Amino acid sequence: MELSKDTLTKIDEVIGRYPEKRSATLMVIHLVQDEQGCITDEAVEWIAEKLELQPVNIYEVVTFYPMIRREPWGKTHVRVCRTLPCALRGSYKTCRTLEEKLGVKEGHVSEDGEFSIEFMECLADCGKGPVVIVDEKTYEDVQGEAAEKFAEQVKNGTLAKDRNFTSYEDGLAKPRKKTVASKKKGARRK
Ligand code: FES
Repeated sequence: MELSKDTLTKIDEVIGRYPEKRSATLMVIHLVQDEQGCITDEAVEWIAEKLELQPVNIYEVVTFYPMIRREPWGKTHVRVCRTLPCALRGSYKTCRTLEEKLGVKEGHVSEDGEFSIEFMECLADCGKGPVVIVDEKTYEDVQGEAAEKFAEQVKNGTLAKDRNFTSYEDGLAKPRKKTVASKKKGARRK
């Protein structure tokens, strides 16, 4: 199995953190999945050898956790929160809108392999639902008409350029504008 130098370095680093190689199993599985999109039989064999375990020790972890995939998701993977706070704000409808626009049912990959949708439990941003994660970017309050436009942008691959939808992560990266209150505070300090 071919892995990038970067992933191999990360795997060695993570194994080195534990007194027993076996303790790094889940972390190594995640690193392999991040690069390859899923954990194939070949990956199971490779990880087992790396950690000096039997393949069955890796299979038992891979088959236990639902977030570990045996087949890859689509090129663009969309996660929609289904837990109560987001559900009360319309996440079921948001998921249906995405399914219709992207032409794929939740839990599946579109025939052309472009899109997949996962309707899943809490995405850890419960105050601003419905929360949708596209690949690694988190979007809040995706509902109603906005959900229609959002789904359209995901489909066209233009979401990152649309100023109406700023991901949580991109919002953090932007410098905060000074408020009137903070300007006054700064002036008092001088
Ligand atoms: S309930 Fe949706 S992010 Fe937690």
